[in-house]
Amino acid sequence: MSTLVIVGAQWGDEGKGKVVDAVAAQADVVARFAGGNNAGHTLVVDGRKVVTHLVPSGCLYPGTRCVLGAGMVIDPDVLADEIASLHALGLLRDDELRVSLSAHVIFGYHRALDGAREDRAAGGARAIGTTRRGIGPAYEAKAARRGVQVRDLFEPELLRARLEQNRDVVGAELAAASLPAFDVEAAMRDAEAWAKWLAPVVCDTGALCHAAIREGRRVLLEGAQGALLDLDHGTYPYVTSSSTIAGGASSGLGIGPTLIDGVWGISKAYATRVGAGPFPTRLDDATGERLRQVGGEFGATTGRPRDCGWLDLPALRYGARLSGMTGLCITKMDVLAQLGQAQVCVAYEDGIDPGRDGLARARPKLQVVPGFDDPTLLGALTQARRFEELPRCVRAYLDLVAAHVEVPISLLSMGPDREQTVFVHEPFRSR
Ligand code: GDP
Ligand code: IMO
Ligand code: MG
Repeated sequence: MSTLVIVGAQWGDEGKGKVVDAVAAQADVVARFAGGNNAGHTLVVDGRKVVTHLVPSGCLYPGTRCVLGAGMVIDPDVLADEIASLHALGLLRDDELRVSLSAHVIFGYHRALDGAREDRAAGGARAIGTTRRGIGPAYEAKAARRGVQVRDLFEPELLRARLEQNRDVVGAELAAASLPAFDVEAAMRDAEAWAKWLAPVVCDTGALCHAAIREGRRVLLEGAQGALLDLDHGTYPYVTSSSTIAGGASSGLGIGPTLIDGVWGISKAYATRVGAGPFPTRLDDATGERLRQVGGEFGATTGRPRDCGWLDLPALRYGARLSGMTGLCITKMDVLAQLGQAQVCVAYEDGIDPGRDGLARARPKLQVVPGFDDPTLLGALTQARRFEELPRCVRAYLDLVAAHVEVPISLLSMGPDREQTVFVHEPFRSR
């Protein structure tokens, strides 16, 4: 048996898509367990780029099962578009895709509410800077026990009653924001159309994953967002509305934590954040701008410029604890290698602790890692095929990270392409 969780260890966009795609070569099932199309996961093979928002990043491998789990919120129109683009590439046959009957559905009114709330809060402390995809309102309805599960799309009577209930709750807010009125009949028509094409791919995905694990298949559980965006443990309220840490894989798919063998956390060699909220190592200067340009730090979902800063080891250590990481994957080392310098945050002033104190008041203590001013560094880095062949300063950097976080480095990425990857450890292991 072999089950590996891959989660973001920072504020999202760490390169989960790239790493999941690289590891998925060895997987039979790749399952998403949380979030929705707020995620944007980029896969690059031979220079060709595919961005997924809902479909798991195992979708480029024929024969690999791609599962959308119960903890997700799914916008069926977005899913339909994504499936169509993958079909156009000859990928993701119907028998390779499975959607949980228990996942929640995002309707147009969720998106409208998300956007209207952001507009109303714009510029103030209450603005979260969401992706405006309806994620928060859909999870809010779920927690209030008035959400629509995928299974409800097949029960028109129940669905109409549920939609009417939602109309009664959010109708006034839509009106106050001058948004179109809640149209139950239009939503019913959407649902009928969605139910038709979803019917062949829906199932109990928890049972599917459980059976695959029991049969000895390799199952990869793909997180979205990152540890510091976790609803319970992130920089609340500047978080997403789901459980992004490894524990979310168990609850979001409906498989017991005892079936999970390992957890890899993904971190860039530096840090980025998009949206509002604390980011202790943010660089509002030319170095931050250079990281953004060299790293192409613009959102895969919204195109927004990402804030950039030095790697934050106390925050990473916190994320590693939250997810019980057994391995750390460092991406975008090629970007750091082009910067001419490298610094890391090794602690915060005044003994601030991320779990106890939060990050709002955290001021970083920085340490310079020497050797990054070498103009030949990028060339030497990208030629390395094994960890031992890495340039000395890169190894020193990784040793420093592993020592602070107390998790071994399992993978190093030095380019967006699947091939630009050095595995230090095998992702799957036998029990
Ligand atoms: P995700 O949300 O965690 O899957 O990450 P995104 O796809 O949103 O953002 C990561 C970006 O970095 C994408 O454009 C990737 O193609 C790119 N990327 C991933 N790993 C590397 C790497 O090692 N080097 C470089 N230069 N780009 C990378
Ligand atoms: P991937 O999976 C980066 C951020 C938003 C905002 C906050 C809440 O690609 O790493 P939401 O729309 O979820 O209500 O927004 O969370 N956010 C992400 N940031 N990567 C993501 O996903 C994100 N998904 C949400 O920018 O700050
Ligand atoms: Mg992303």
